[in-house]
Amino acid sequence: MDLKGQHILSASQFDKKTLLELFKKAQEMEKILSNKGQSDLAFGKVMATLFFEPSTRTRFSFETAMMRLGGRVIANSDMVKTSSTMKMESLEDTGKTVSQMADIIVMRHPEAGSVGKLAFKSDVPVINAGDGPAQHPTQALLDVYTIWKSFGKLDELTIGMVGDLKNGRVPHSQCELLKQFDVNFIFVSPEGLKMPREIVGDLQDGGHYVEEVSELKVVISKMDVIAMTRVQKERFENEKDYEKYVGSYVLNNEMMTKAKNNAIVIHPLPRVDEISTEIDTDPRAKYFEQVKNGVAIRMALIAEVLGL
Ligand code: CP
Repeated sequence: MDLKGQHILSASQFDKKTLLELFKKAQEMEKILSNKGQSDLAFGKVMATLFFEPSTRTRFSFETAMMRLGGRVIANSDMVKTSSTMKMESLEDTGKTVSQMADIIVMRHPEAGSVGKLAFKSDVPVINAGDGPAQHPTQALLDVYTIWKSFGKLDELTIGMVGDLKNGRVPHSQCELLKQFDVNFIFVSPEGLKMPREIVGDLQDGGHYVEEVSELKVVISKMDVIAMTRVQKERFENEKDYEKYVGSYVLNNEMMTKAKNNAIVIHPLPRVDEISTEIDTDPRAKYFEQVKNGVAIRMALIAEVLGL
């Protein structure tokens, strides 16, 4: 699929061929990063980053990617309080307006579907940097890129997803990408935070083996990929409901003794308590490497979307 001029709203937009081409392009971007760290591919282009929800990695990653490509960035990390959203401007009008100034827009918002709403009226491509519990396509791209780099393949792997699979937009997007490959899924979550039924049904209809359990220790030895997620506090109606689930899973040295020697641990970050810092030096821990991969994959995506 040609990504030029496309809004990137969901991981479902990436077919196998597009995905693998993007990974090859990301490898070229890694060469730029490890050589001069700079290209002029996007010289003269402007990216606007509109964040209605907090972020450390995603916003900096997009902004770094655009700057490493030689482009420039206009940014608002607190759209709720410091943009004309405060004056009741609609998302549609914000999209139309910003697209008269920027060549590409990156947006995060707490409501599912909100990025699509803004994109509907935008005259330039819009990339979803996370819309509520729905999708976080570029995080899934960098996660799957990390898996591909680690194993040299995406087939014949058992993918474990652990944590808040109900509210986590990252596992939802990961499933969209990984379902195109010959993989088994093991979902580990408390009963109240299970993967949405429509996602499980979709995977099963596609012929995938799907196992759902609540205890990590009984299944960790089967996993090639241990994809951890935090309990998404911001998606709970009250603190009491959230507290019920905190500390449900803690990946520590003891738990890692049960994992395969060549398994990898990924996490979109930020973490709370689900990955103990004691495993940060375990060579199987890839979550900081993922951050680096994120810049390369976003450079590749920006280049494709802008047709550079
Ligand atoms: N992984 C991720 O989306 O992190 P941030 O919330 O810090 O952007």
